[in-house]
Amino acid sequence: MPPPLRVAPSLLACDFGRLAEEVQAVQEAGADWLHVDVMDGHFVPNLTIGPAVVEAIRKASRVPLDVHLMLDHPEQYVKPFVDAGAYYLTVHVEAQGLRNEAVLLKTLATIRSLGAKAGLSVRPRTTAEALTPYLGAVDLILVMSVEPGFGGQAFMPEVVPKVRALRQRFAGELEVDGGINALTGRAMREAGANVLVAGTYVFHAESYRQAIASLREE
Ligand code: DX5
Ligand code: ZN
Repeated sequence: MPPPLRVAPSLLACDFGRLAEEVQAVQEAGADWLHVDVMDGHFVPNLTIGPAVVEAIRKASRVPLDVHLMLDHPEQYVKPFVDAGAYYLTVHVEAQGLRNEAVLLKTLATIRSLGAKAGLSVRPRTTAEALTPYLGAVDLILVMSVEPGFGGQAFMPEVVPKVRALRQRFAGELEVDGGINALTGRAMREAGANVLVAGTYVFHAESYRQAIASLREE
């Protein structure tokens, strides 16, 4: 049995000036998790938020925080983000600081030893095979369906076979992120994904509730 379907709105597309209200509104509308994008201006050409803001989000929320680290050196920031309230903490297999298998395995083990769930993410052009050494060491796999860095980009359908291949080998949380809407979300669910991240599609919708519900439709 695959894990249950989860909808994780990405706060990157919310109104940051009303962060706590947005968190509450999207929870009321049925969000299972909140997806939080952390960017360093190096791994991706954009900057977002750090542990202080993650902590503020945690204080305003009651669902698990799914923190996506788009950083060259995530290994240096595991503890601050777990302390700030990350429930899932996801690092990228391509991160400069994690290029060595031993360091990557150690980073995943550290996330777990601090009491959080360990996630590993791949960019659209990174193969499923790059994750092979780590499948037994992670609770979550995050497949990017756009180049990480910005919300509002078009879904890349070429990643669908990668999701299908990973589902055959991985029974944990299989998450997809980038250009997800009702249509692309359904294609990803059919391929085996059970966690749908959606930023623009939820936060730019007239009704958060309807947008979230549409991601669950059969
Ligand atoms: C992009 C982020 C995504 C982003 C998705 O680097 O990882 O989580 O918020 O935004 P949409 O859903 O608008 O593609
Ligand atoms: Zn993300």
